[in-house]
Formats: sequence, C-alpha cells, structure tokens
Amino acid sequence: MLGMPAHRENFQATYRTENEPWEYSSSGAERLRYKLTVELARRFKLQLGRVLEVGCGLGLMTCRLAVAAENVTAIDISVLAVQKCWAQLGGELPNVRFAVATLTDPTLELSAFDVIFYCDGLVGHQLSDQELKLVSNNMIKMLSKDGIIILSDYLGHQQFAAYRQLIASLGFEVLHEELPHDRLWFQLKSWLRLFKTFGPVRRVLASERLAKRLAWLSAQRGAEGSKHLCLVVRPQVPQGGFS
Ligand SMILES: C[S@@+](CC[C@H](N)C(=O)[O-])C[C@H]1O[C@@H](n2cnc3c(N)ncnc32)[C@H](O)[C@@H]1O
Repeated sequence: MLGMPAHRENFQATYRTENEPWEYSSSGAERLRYKLTVELARRFKLQLGRVLEVGCGLGLMTCRLAVAAENVTAIDISVLAVQKCWAQLGGELPNVRFAVATLTDPTLELSAFDVIFYCDGLVGHQLSDQELKLVSNNMIKMLSKDGIIILSDYLGHQQFAAYRQLIASLGFEVLHEELPHDRLWFQLKSWLRLFKTFGPVRRVLASERLAKRLAWLSAQRGAEGSKHLCLVVRPQVPQGGFS
C-alpha cells in the first residue's frame, strides 16, 4: 500500500517535466552536503552495513552510498525517480536495491538498517502530523539495535529550534548537530539565477572549492550562516531503558 496519491503525482509530474528538478548535480554546496552526511554516518558507525536512503531522487547520494556501505536500499515515492536513480547507477549493482515506497506506509516491510538517511525530505515532503508519526514509527521499527538516522533539511536558522522540537516530539534524541554553513552559497545562487544557464555561471555554482570558501565565510555568522541543519539522531531511550 503506497498511499499519498496526490503527493506522489506531484513528484511524478516534476520528474516528467524536468530533467533535473533540484539541479543538485551542478551544485557545489549540495555535493558538499552529500559528503558531509556520509562522513557524519561514518563518525558514528565505522562500518556502514545496511543502509536505507529515503527519497533517493536521481541517485546522487545513492552513488556515494553504494561505495560507502555494504548494502543500500534506495526508496522514492516516484517511480520515475527510482527508474532514473537506477539508470544513474548504471543499472543493477549487487549491493543496491530499489523500491517505490514511502515511510508513510504502515505496511512497509523493511528492517534492520544500521543507518537511515532521510535527507532533504522530512520537511520538504510536506507531511501531515499523522504522516510524520507514521514515518517516525517506521524508522524506529526499521532500525537495527544501535542504529542511527541522518537527517538534513533546508530550513534557515529561524526554523532550527522548531525543527529540533519536531524531532524530539517524534521520539528521537539528537546525538550530534552539524551546520553546512551554506547560506552564502544559496545567496549567490539566488543572485545568479537569471544567468544560471551560462557556462561560466554554471561552473561557478558547480565549484566545490568556491562552496567551501563561502562556507568558511558563512561560518563566521554561526547558525545564521546555514540554510541546512544536519542531525544525527536515534530513538529516545525510554526511562528505565529498553526492556
Ligand atoms: C528534494 S529531492 C531530495 C533527493 C535526495 N534525498 C537528495 O538529498 O539529493 C526529494 C525526493 O523525495 C521524494 N519524495 C517525496 N515525498 C516522498 C515520500 N513521502 N516518500 C519517499 N520519497 C518521497 C521525491 O520524489 C524526490 O525524489
């Protein structure tokens, strides 16, 4: 049971009409975010064994996970995204499997993941309170013992406190926070948006070196210098411990 037909159709339509809806592959800052989230997982798990990626999109993160982890399950609500992700990875890979699925599905049978990556999705998927609860229940059910979840969302610093509260209300404890300090990069992208198809502008926005320099400058503003907030979380331990 997949559910969410209107929501699914929105994403399907986006993938039908746009080659690369979020232009992540030509974005230096997004590539740094992919690196950061994999590094974060590695800091907490020396071995990335079984990994679930939720909302795999075109597979830019999936490609990295396919190398970093033993086994990857990549899911997306859009069948077109899953097909494109599969193609991006060059078809069958022995350690990657794909599924058209959403964590709002209470009948989903996936389990024992060491790490769940839910990146640019928990907020972006615009889930109702009830759907968020289904997602968090599924994540808790699907984690192996000592499993962790890596979250990243595009928010802006004014929303960071509310985001932390949301995560706590869903039953998770934050183990670590990381700010990619990407605000100046997104500012630059917005200034250049009218010229984004010009070669030199594309190269500027694709440059990881520039994205890193802008991150250093943005970091001088502390949390205000970040649009994304990345969290490492795990299910809250009930008082008295797990039985
Ligand atoms: C903004 S893209 C992010 C892609 C990828 N996670 C990344 O960080 O590059 C959001 C993706 O989530 C998918 N999606 C939207 N709602 C979803 C849901 N409820 N369950 C699973 N995937 C969903 C969309 O089809 C889209 O591919």
